[in-house]
Amino acid sequence: MIRYKTLRVDRTENVLTVTIDRPDKLNALSDVVLDELAELCTKMPVQSGVRGMILAGAGDRAFVAGADIQRMSEMSPDEGVAFGRLGQKVTELIEALPFPVIACVNGFALGGGCELAMAADFIYATESAVFGQPEVKLGLIPGFGGCVRLLRLVGPARAKELIYTGRDIGVQEAQRVGLVNAVFSSRAAMISAAVETIRVIAQRSAVAVATCKEILTSLEGKSTAAQLALENAGFGRVFTTADKREGVAAFLGKRSPTFSGR
Ligand code: COA
Repeated sequence: MIRYKTLRVDRTENVLTVTIDRPDKLNALSDVVLDELAELCTKMPVQSGVRGMILAGAGDRAFVAGADIQRMSEMSPDEGVAFGRLGQKVTELIEALPFPVIACVNGFALGGGCELAMAADFIYATESAVFGQPEVKLGLIPGFGGCVRLLRLVGPARAKELIYTGRDIGVQEAQRVGLVNAVFSSRAAMISAAVETIRVIAQRSAVAVATCKEILTSLEGKSTAAQLALENAGFGRVFTTADKREGVAAFLGKRSPTFSGR
């Protein structure tokens, strides 16, 4: 396993837990953190057998309190563009991973933290979680995909209100508007639930789940006809897999399937 300066990476069986580890800076996303996340996601497909990833923040105060404001204070406009593009690239790499990613939010998920969480397939949170896109309070705008993904998750009217006001929302509101799937009383309960969800998914066909993820993350902005064509192409692809043959035969044979992931 590669060693990182700002990430802790633990693998237990087929579950990878990636913890952003700068608790003294509330896990703010510096360029080092972003570079390391990009490297991790790029190397990930060669790690065989991973069936799901948990993304978390170290310490008990924050998931991630945003892009690194200290670093941004020193950046020229061109450097700002490059920094924003790096943040966007990390979110795209997370979305492209061929297995589910669950963001586990404890404490602040502000700015880049909210944007990073939204790049996961879904979000679990503790009762202490706080979400928001406060960039306009700093004369900035969401730049790591927040304008795109918040709108997609909560709809245009809610996204506009949250982004224009920069206000924080607690976990109950975050769940009500569709940002958070489930709320837990403690970090330990949240992580156990995420591991259990990945275990359930790991019993399914890996190639079918990866195909679903690829389709579900690439539908946006396309016409209904183009979306249906993407779904149909994926449907055709899974008909070529050993897992489809096994899954269907197991059902008809009244037994449990043994999937190979191919
Ligand atoms: N970038 C860089 N450093 C950050 C940071 C960020 N986004 N958020 C927090 N930190 C640092 C603080 O500067 C402080 O460092 P220091 O101890 O060296 O001074 C440390 O993390 C602890 O934060 P602090 O502000 O002292 O904690 P708090 O409990 O008083 O407030 C927050 C917590 C989250 C409300 C506050 O840190 C905050 O508003 N952070 C910025 C949120 C934001 O605007 N994010 C979007 C950025 S575009």
